[in-house]
Amino acid sequence: MSAPNKSYDPVEVEALKPEEIDRARDAALAAIAAAGDLEALREVKAAHAGDRSPLALANREIGALPPHAKAEAGRRVGQARGAVGQALKRRQEELEAERDERVLVEEAVDVTLPFDRVPAGARHPLTTLSERIEDVFVAMGYEVAEGPEAEAEWFNFDALNIAPDHPARTMQDTFFVQGPGESGGSGGSGEGESGVVLRTHTSPVQIRSLLERKPPVYVICPGRVYRTDELDATHTPVFHQVELLAVDEGLTMADLKGTLDHMVRSLFGEDLRTRLRPSYFPFTEPSAEMDMVCFACRGESVGNPDRPCRTCSSEGWIELGGCGMVNPRVLTACGVDPERYSGFAFGFGIERMLMFRHNVEDMRDMVEGDVRFTRPFGMEI
Ligand code: DAH
Repeated sequence: MSAPNKSYDPVEVEALKPEEIDRARDAALAAIAAAGDLEALREVKAAHAGDRSPLALANREIGALPPHAKAEAGRRVGQARGAVGQALKRRQEELEAERDERVLVEEAVDVTLPFDRVPAGARHPLTTLSERIEDVFVAMGYEVAEGPEAEAEWFNFDALNIAPDHPARTMQDTFFVQGPGESGGSGGSGEGESGVVLRTHTSPVQIRSLLERKPPVYVICPGRVYRTDELDATHTPVFHQVELLAVDEGLTMADLKGTLDHMVRSLFGEDLRTRLRPSYFPFTEPSAEMDMVCFACRGESVGNPDRPCRTCSSEGWIELGGCGMVNPRVLTACGVDPERYSGFAFGFGIERMLMFRHNVEDMRDMVEGDVRFTRPFGMEI
């Protein structure tokens, strides 16, 4: 840039010639109009309105002009730069509006689409019912106990006073895993020659609990059990039981009845009565079957053909399971003094309870794993 010079003619300065300024302006306007997106426009702005753009350079030359020439040159350059600035601003707004519109379309979220493409699973109603039963007893101070499903025959039968010639030992009911004397028999008192079976009931957990603990013992034992039954509407070779065992000083049948009443009321409703019917189990003496008043008809279907009840087949009572006072021979087998301690026990099937508690008519539905069966029970987790 040269010093002011009276004889300096702006028309002589190349960058300040009107046609040069018009050319620079027109080139800038054309580039602005041609910028297709904001990124391109940023480049156009740097090239045509930045510090090193032709118009900025021309502007710098004005200072070197003689005073009388400055106004005219300043006005011309100023107008050109103003036009370019305005065009930039307008184009910027246009391109921003276009971008916003495009983003709205491209990034639109369809709020009506299902949000949960992988539906959350749920636990099987057998599991949740079994846990509900456990909760009732845990609230009374009972402990949850478990045992193996492949069980020593001694635990499954002998220790429960089921003699070797008892019908429950025949091939009909029991899955045998290992014969007596075959290698790999599990350890434990008195079962040296014992074979291994898939446990046919949860009662062996009574024995394990008594061997592992000192009285008083209060345990609730849920678990899977096996019998050689065909799968049909009312049988399944794999099913679930819950076993209850209390051993303490001075326990009587009245304690058993009161405990069962509490369980039935907690699970089915406050006003439901229970009854005990004499029965026989080798591991209890005396033994009983426990029934509860049908919660569907409350017994009103009995002798009332106009109001038949499908839940109890109009019998008024539903059989829940077997129970009784622990046979002193069982206590003795577990090293518990039957003179000092007595106990009560109760065992029942969860599948059956699920059937009448929820009107499930076919047991096969419980094992087939079809979500259309489990979904109506709710997504309990
Ligand atoms: N274990 C028996 C069964 O599976 C059920 C049973 C009956 C369990 C009486 C008990 C009981 O604890 O006292 O058939």
